[in-house]
Amino acid sequence: MINLTHTITETQITIQKQKSEGKTIGFVPTMGALHEGHITLIRRAAAENDFVVVSIFVNPIQFNNPEDLAKYPRTLDEDMEKLAGTGCTLVFAPSADEMYPEPDLTEFDFGQLDKVMEGKFRPGHFKGVAIVVKKLFEIVTPHKAYFGEKDFQQLAIIKKMVSMLQMPVEIVPCPIIREADGLAMSSRNARLSADERTEAPLLFKALSGIKENYSWFIPDGTKQLVTGEIQESKYFRVEYVSVVDIETLQPFEDWQDVEHAVVCVAAFIGSVRLIDNIVLY
Ligand code: PAJ
Repeated sequence: MINLTHTITETQITIQKQKSEGKTIGFVPTMGALHEGHITLIRRAAAENDFVVVSIFVNPIQFNNPEDLAKYPRTLDEDMEKLAGTGCTLVFAPSADEMYPEPDLTEFDFGQLDKVMEGKFRPGHFKGVAIVVKKLFEIVTPHKAYFGEKDFQQLAIIKKMVSMLQMPVEIVPCPIIREADGLAMSSRNARLSADERTEAPLLFKALSGIKENYSWFIPDGTKQLVTGEIQESKYFRVEYVSVVDIETLQPFEDWQDVEHAVVCVAAFIGSVRLIDNIVLY
């Protein structure tokens, strides 16, 4: 049986009881509309911890676009069904009032980390993510927390926050889970029309193609090439393609300048904004 809580107090009491029995706590924060990407994180948490908490909360303060917030799928009953048999033991699904009785005024300084890519195109997004994840960590007090590499920059921001605040939690990065045709799984994929869904794997096709061939080009050429390939489809509108250092998320001039590089992309297909990335080396 999976326990479902809606209040912070109930959640804390349940988790403290487990901790007093010496259990380790694994935590997977989500916004619900669960798919195999989320489920893979949850199964991993269950394999590595005694007690697994999943939070389901569509965090209003991380949406810079009100339409995106309004359209975000909310499917708690289906989510609970999907969680059966995954090893999840507690679902924490608070209301916005429960999480934010007052506006949360916490400020963070992530240096250059949140000035690029998602941070640049979605102003305030990472501040909202950091506020909610900090608050959730304080409620759940997990030993380990699991995040997908699909949201590459989010993962970097969370690692930085945990390091800056010296929070006693281990952040576990998890690989991107994809559909059979390469499309990275996302709660937003459900909003694609049939035609858009057919076209959507182009994003991953462009990224995996460049992983094979990048050394023929300079980093900026790589960026232009990926942009061009995606833009050729009339369905897509590229917001950014960035070739960046895996640690600092900053662009660089030559391949030798960085130890590891990742290509990150955000593109609209119709009104749906998709992101994806691939580590080149
Ligand atoms: P959400 O988009 O629901 O994602 C929850 C977690 O699942 C994130 O760590 C995300 O990176 C991971 N995830 C999503 N799709 C994935 C895929 N295809 N493969 C692997 N992992 C995947 O990210 C958020 O929610 C929110 O910003 C949150 C951290 C919960 C804060 O509100």
